[in-house]
Amino acid sequence: MSRNNRFDVITIFPDYLTPITISLMGKAVQAGLVDISVQDLREYATNIHRSVDDTPYGGGAGMVMSPQPWGEAIDAVADRDGAPLHDLIVLTPAGEKFSQKLAEELVNCEHLIFACGRYEGIDHRVTEHYQSRSDFRVREISIGDYVLGGGEVATLVILEAVIRLIPGVLGNPDSLREESHSMDDSLVEYPNFTKPALWRDLAVPEVLMSGNHAAIAKWRLDQAVKRTNRIQQQTGE
Ligand code: ADE
Repeated sequence: MSRNNRFDVITIFPDYLTPITISLMGKAVQAGLVDISVQDLREYATNIHRSVDDTPYGGGAGMVMSPQPWGEAIDAVADRDGAPLHDLIVLTPAGEKFSQKLAEELVNCEHLIFACGRYEGIDHRVTEHYQSRSDFRVREISIGDYVLGGGEVATLVILEAVIRLIPGVLGNPDSLREESHSMDDSLVEYPNFTKPALWRDLAVPEVLMSGNHAAIAKWRLDQAVKRTNRIQQQTGE
């Protein structure tokens, strides 16, 4: 396996990342399949008040995160690691849209560093500086067309989507295979049912209990197509 599955998250709210200790991500960490470390940005601020932001040049509302603590924090996690190439993920509503395809790309990266901006974002020179370095690749990523209070929740979304793709993390690897098949066709998943066969007067579709695998596969594909069409009509995409 060429990948290292090392993740560093830099934030002014390390507690925001506690979900990495729970469920799928928590188990992956405990099993040693991933190494996630959370850094408090404030510890890298050198000014007396440990402040991490300042007013924007050019005026305007809000505060901008200062480049100094970001530079120190990113250099520190990169130095500690010793990997030849680091992928710096800057979370921003102005970034490339996150997708399953991007998750599949990120899972092959050796060392991901997540920069969780807050306020009006991070001084743009941080992105520029790391873009100019040969030991870094920078990606600005958005998880959707809405504005969050900061990049922490976006980081959790990406971490969960990426970590479940690491071999050994999911109990049943078949579910990954089925998913990637449907994603290739750009279809959403078909509806699922479990016991009991009758619940509040609603019966499970008969075909699913028929034991006819070809008929079941056809029914599921039809349902996935219907669902996908309905979503496309709703979103106009
Ligand atoms: N920070 C604020 N809003 C965000 C979004 N939609 N995606 C990623 N990072 C963000």
